[in-house]
Amino acid sequence: MTTDVKTISFARGAPSLDLIPVEELKQSADRAFTNDPAGAFGYGTAVGYQPLREWIADQHDVDVDRVIVTNGSLHACALMFDRLVAPSDKIAIELPLYDRSLLMLRQRGADLIGFPLQEDGFDLDALEAELNGGLKPKFVYTIPHFHNPGGCTMPLEKRQRLVALANEYDFLIVEDDPYRDVSFEGEPLPTMLSMDPSGERVFYMCSFTKTVCPGLRVGYAIASTAITKDMVIAGTNTYISPGQASEAILNDYVRSGKLEGSITTIRNALRERRDALTASLTEFLPQSKFVVPAGGYFLWVDLGEGVNTDEIAAKAAEAGVPVTKGSDFMIEGGTTSLRMSFSSATPEDIREGVERLAGIVNG
Ligand SMILES: Cc1ncc(COP(=O)(O)O)c(C=O)c1O
Repeated sequence: MTTDVKTISFARGAPSLDLIPVEELKQSADRAFTNDPAGAFGYGTAVGYQPLREWIADQHDVDVDRVIVTNGSLHACALMFDRLVAPSDKIAIELPLYDRSLLMLRQRGADLIGFPLQEDGFDLDALEAELNGGLKPKFVYTIPHFHNPGGCTMPLEKRQRLVALANEYDFLIVEDDPYRDVSFEGEPLPTMLSMDPSGERVFYMCSFTKTVCPGLRVGYAIASTAITKDMVIAGTNTYISPGQASEAILNDYVRSGKLEGSITTIRNALRERRDALTASLTEFLPQSKFVVPAGGYFLWVDLGEGVNTDEIAAKAAEAGVPVTKGSDFMIEGGTTSLRMSFSSATPEDIREGVERLAGIVNG
């Protein structure tokens, strides 16, 4: 890549610096460190910073014993998978799927049963047919809001149906939901967690990465009391406690009513960036097919037969327009697709970046 070409990234999904509430977080840090220096600078325990843990429990209306606050939600996911996945366990997943979850499931020796992602999320007809045929999954792992990488969302009826299937066929649901609040059109849908009064059927993960910033590294899991207790023991034995200072800052931030403001900023900016990306794809790559995401950070674009997105992604990185190749999100195939994040660049840069990308695809 020549040095005078500006990099326009479509690779990573995180708020760009202009969307991060730096000044307000500085004020929160100041207050948190002044009001609770012992809590912010001490070790703490593996449950996380207790006031933030309580705030999270309140938000989801669950018993606080079910919540563990972790160093980002991927950390929660690893702790949870360590408890739930034994080698050869059957785990039902959507494909394409967030590459890091896919990798973590494979590393634990799961027998992955993939279901093609539909425009409205998990293919429940196919799942039900397999369940009727004798499939006994340990759990279904799903990203119901603004899927990574698919961009799609599972509607309310499908959520209710998945919970009903889980109850009928006795499997767990692992609901990975970091994008829930980043909705462009109206309020987000209810979680499947909220449809499980037993507290034993749906395990949930969420994060502040996509609504505040990734650098604080704060996420959480809500599981059954027993599994949460086990995750806490594992946490104590490996890292003692998550970053208390980060969690104290975030606790002040959310309790002083700032979270809504940062969610609004991110929603508005990402809606504009999504619009720029979809318009630019239509203009420069009219052969591309995609679901228009109603929220979140990603769009999954299919470029049609005859392309190899492994090669395109390598060339795009060279040309300063990094994208993520589709094969990263699949067990096999994916070489006609790309994941494009619309979180990093301004609308003007997005247009320029897609034009550059189109030069490579059509080149
Ligand atoms: C579905 C999903 N889960 C978890 C994560 C990890 O988020 P965190 O930064 O909280 O670890 C991501 C990040 O992209 C994600 O897309």
